[in-house]
Amino acid sequence: MTELLSIILAAGEGTRMKSALPKVLHPVGGLPVVSHVLRAAKAAGSRLAVVVGPNHEAVEAAVTRWAPDVHIARQEQRLGTAHAVLQAKAAYEAAPGHVLVLFADTPLVTQQTFAGVVDRLDAGADMVVVGFRPTDPTGYGRVITDNGRVIAIREHRDATEAERQIGLCNSGIIGFRGEVLRAVIERIGNSNAKGEYYLTDAVELAVRDGKRIDYVEADARELVGVDNRVKLAEAEATFQEFKRREVMEAGVTLRDPSSVWFSWDTEIGRDVTIFPNVVFGPGVKIADNVEIRAFCDIEDAVIGEGSSIGPFARIRGGAELGAEVHLGNFVEVKKSKIGAGTKAGHLSYLGDAEIGAKTNIGAGTITCNYDGVNKDKTIIGDNAFIGSNASLVAPVRIGNGAYTASGSVITEDVPDDALAFGRAQQVNKPGYAPKLREKALAKKAAKGK
Ligand code: UD1
Repeated sequence: MTELLSIILAAGEGTRMKSALPKVLHPVGGLPVVSHVLRAAKAAGSRLAVVVGPNHEAVEAAVTRWAPDVHIARQEQRLGTAHAVLQAKAAYEAAPGHVLVLFADTPLVTQQTFAGVVDRLDAGADMVVVGFRPTDPTGYGRVITDNGRVIAIREHRDATEAERQIGLCNSGIIGFRGEVLRAVIERIGNSNAKGEYYLTDAVELAVRDGKRIDYVEADARELVGVDNRVKLAEAEATFQEFKRREVMEAGVTLRDPSSVWFSWDTEIGRDVTIFPNVVFGPGVKIADNVEIRAFCDIEDAVIGEGSSIGPFARIRGGAELGAEVHLGNFVEVKKSKIGAGTKAGHLSYLGDAEIGAKTNIGAGTITCNYDGVNKDKTIIGDNAFIGSNASLVAPVRIGNGAYTASGSVITEDVPDDALAFGRAQQVNKPGYAPKLREKALAKKAAKGK
């Protein structure tokens, strides 16, 4: 396989996002836009170089976190896409194979599109432009072809009226044979409407050198560039649409697909049913035969086979649920392990807990895991029964098969098979109720005078 280097341009200012956060760090499907691009390029087997702007430490940090072996180049002045590529000279100078130039703000670009470009280069093309047909081509560079070959890309501002009628636009992704890039990149000038060094001018220079330039066409939705909040929402909507299709094709029932929101890394098994209005944050793995009822919010959690969750459950913070766990309405689980077959049916907070198998957590059970300074653990064994409305004050341990009485505040460990009462003893006063009523009536009458 020919070696591949991807140069990802991320030096744009992103002013149209109107944000303190750099444009390429805004998330789509819970992952920064630039990380989507890095991920796709990496999956295509490419080495990576990223061109960042001045004061882009946050972008640099995010990029190296995702791809530690990335080559970072800095573009101190934003003089155009060709100038940006030039900053990565140290990376492309010695690149043995093909070079792909990508934009950091197109998160939905797929590995398949890269593969299409590489195939053409392998088949003898010197450059390959990824084109698309947006509903409104205004603002994009137009791909000018002759007999199926690309002969120029004309930026909108520099295009004639006739050229502006062309529907095929440049996505920004261009593949080069390494030697072709090296031969043209330094010859690109800046005599155009914007006074910038346009990478797109590489096409005409290469044509003059007698090179062959192909194009491949990709789905316009895949090539959406996130440069304002409207495009960000568009990218998110498309991401969700693709992900919903992927999970349904893999054997998941979505009762109302458009109301279920996934993250880039959501993993779901077969025969899982998801009811409407469910949101998956990053880090969720769901095994087979799970049912997730309406209005659940789940992130950073593993859910075991055959479990049933919700409605209105919240699971987060590294929660691990075994097989056949049931969490019912208004149950929150944070950073807890819950053993197979355990049930928490109603109105509970289980935080920093380790709960064994086949334990019943009564309605209203709260783990009191935080004293304002420290977080402490609640450990509950197998086959235990926590009576309703219990406060389990951590650190505390409740043994296997133990019972806690309803309404208890449990502050001390409960041994295996013990019954713990942590509430005031009930006192019955026989025949006292009528006297109480008489007293109350007398009080009312006195007030009425
Ligand atoms: C570019 C293309 C245009 C294409 C369009 C698709 C050129 C000259 N034009 O135009 O043909 O239809 O994208 O969206 O390439 N960047 C830098 N440094 C710079 C300039 C840009 O890193 O000096 C990066 C930006 O961060 C961005 C990308 O390059 O990721 C594109 O820049 P932008 O200015 O948005 O290009 P367009 O004018 O949209």
